[in-house]
Amino acid sequence: MSDGEVFPVPEEWAKRAHMDAAAYEAACRRADEDPEGFWREVGERLDWITPFTQVKDVSFNREDFRIRWYADGALNVSVNCLDRHIETRGDQVAIIWESDDGQVSDKLTYRQLLAETCRWANVLKAKGVKKGDRVTIYLPMIPAAAAAMLACARIGAVHSVVFGGFSPDSLAGRIQDCDSRIVITANEGLRGGKVVPLKANVDEALKTCPGVTDVIVVRRTQTEVPMTPGRDEYYGDLKKTVPDTCDPEPMNAEDPLFILYTSGSTGKPKGVLHTTGGYLAWAAYTHELVFDYRPGEVFWCTADVGWVTGHSYVVYGPLANAATSLIFEGVPNYPTSSRFWEVCDKHKVEIFYTAPTAIRALMREGEEPVRRTSRSTIRLLGTVGEPINPEAWLWYHRVVGEGRCPIVDTWWQTETGACLMSPLPGATPLKPGSCTRPLPGVKPQLVDAEGKVLDGATSGNLCLTDSWPGQMRTVYGDHERFIVTYFTTYPGKYFTGDGARRDEDGYYWITGRVDDVINVSGHRLGTAEIESALVGHEAVAEAAVVGYPHEIKGQGIYCYVTLKVGEHPSEALQADLRGWVRREIGPFAAPDVIQFAPGLPKTRSGKIMRRILRKIAEDDLGNLGDTSTLADPAVVDDLVAHRAGAS
Ligand code: WT7
Repeated sequence: MSDGEVFPVPEEWAKRAHMDAAAYEAACRRADEDPEGFWREVGERLDWITPFTQVKDVSFNREDFRIRWYADGALNVSVNCLDRHIETRGDQVAIIWESDDGQVSDKLTYRQLLAETCRWANVLKAKGVKKGDRVTIYLPMIPAAAAAMLACARIGAVHSVVFGGFSPDSLAGRIQDCDSRIVITANEGLRGGKVVPLKANVDEALKTCPGVTDVIVVRRTQTEVPMTPGRDEYYGDLKKTVPDTCDPEPMNAEDPLFILYTSGSTGKPKGVLHTTGGYLAWAAYTHELVFDYRPGEVFWCTADVGWVTGHSYVVYGPLANAATSLIFEGVPNYPTSSRFWEVCDKHKVEIFYTAPTAIRALMREGEEPVRRTSRSTIRLLGTVGEPINPEAWLWYHRVVGEGRCPIVDTWWQTETGACLMSPLPGATPLKPGSCTRPLPGVKPQLVDAEGKVLDGATSGNLCLTDSWPGQMRTVYGDHERFIVTYFTTYPGKYFTGDGARRDEDGYYWITGRVDDVINVSGHRLGTAEIESALVGHEAVAEAAVVGYPHEIKGQGIYCYVTLKVGEHPSEALQADLRGWVRREIGPFAAPDVIQFAPGLPKTRSGKIMRRILRKIAEDDLGNLGDTSTLADPAVVDDLVAHRAGAS
């Protein structure tokens, strides 16, 4: 076959799996022939307070646009993730917590997590939080993060989790956009041996968030931090004043569950809104199918709860399926680059799910840090967040998985709620680098730039022609932006922003974003956001940012910067600009390359020709294409001559 080695489904996987190859084909057929029945069963995996009778009500057309699933049903997400397991699994571990340095770890049973969730819910209620209110959560990877999310779900509040790596400015923007009155944070976080000043960041952010009345602070470290009287209180003090039971709020299936901000090609980050019934059903269904999950197995997704992967595969999917889910506070290479595998051995992890960037970084350290650990409990490996290069896939398979563990390369997006394309370990032969085929009921399509549908083995822009229950419902506060962003490029279809190739076996190979979004170490960034941060610096007149291939990060951040008259290029200014972007957005957004450019390539109408900037950044100088339509073709010569060593 043209795409290299194919790894067949191991026999024992075909035998044990929820879905073998025949069952997968049958499920896909069923979804085509009896969609109503197929989707009803997906919804019925949840416990409903009022069972739904309507299954799907969707139109992607502007005239009658709507996305509604299970819309006349009522349920509570925290009940589905906690209460319903208590009778049979109350004493089973729900969450294993592994601290940054590994000196402490903790276990919470389902019974304990329910009690803690109820305490959090009661604390929020005592603060006046009501159904529909937004609560911002800015916490490290500690069990309180899961409990606070579930507590919001219990009382019908809408959480907005902000990754602890975001700057005060980014945090403030997210608090303001959804108008949340409450912020939950910690005095400090610990990550890779470094202190993250979470509370100090909140204090800074709140200078521009007059609407915030209360800050609830978890003590993660012994450090004392300034507390503003009347606004800030320690969770440890508040929890002593409340009971550990709390009646769940019945929620309509289409009531909001959470907002999660994500970067797009233009403008400010969008508040992706997910709702209650469809999201949880899809997170749970995909978690069971993709990871062939059975209750009680130890599942570890390394993602931070500040990203969608953490929402769907640390908290909601696993807990809905009565999993033992591991929450890891640290990073892959601290204290040593054996850490992931030591944690797997320590907690007997069976299913391990991480990002390609982590695999590439560990691969660089060689095999020994892996080989010195056992990993004998691991049965299944997964990746998410960016394309995985076959070399990294093969290393993950051979070295980490000792050749015995299938790898599920799961493709999805913040917008899709949970996986849409992935191999199933008992059903799908694997091709390194391919997310293989759509899950049952998922309808991918490739189109060309004009929207013409492309059949067979081909490459194109990836759309989805129909809905699935976990699809985002709107951009918080801006429904028009939702429709324009996703449903107008190719009218009547959801456009993912990704390019993909489909091979002769119908396998998909995601080639990356075709818009101005870049994926840096699995973190999604809009080039426009970085540009806007750069032009906020006093020395900068104009900036254009593109991605370029980066060995470890997947993509690196390449910035072309034009200085104001009277400013002069220098290494000091480069360092200053790098630090500036770090502070404006967050450390993970720090530019890799800054090239000072006297001018940027623009069309006569003033549009920056990013295609040319990308080619220069990629060092693909033979393919700059036609530059004759530029207002000033000479700027390209200067850019090429002064190209920075981007590698
Ligand atoms: C973008 C979405 C999926 C949750 C975490 C990231 C890229 C994601 C894969 C994969 C190739 C992937 C796409 C997508 N992406 N998974 N398995 N193979 N590319 O969510 O931050 O919303 O980013 O990540 O480009 O559009 P996100």
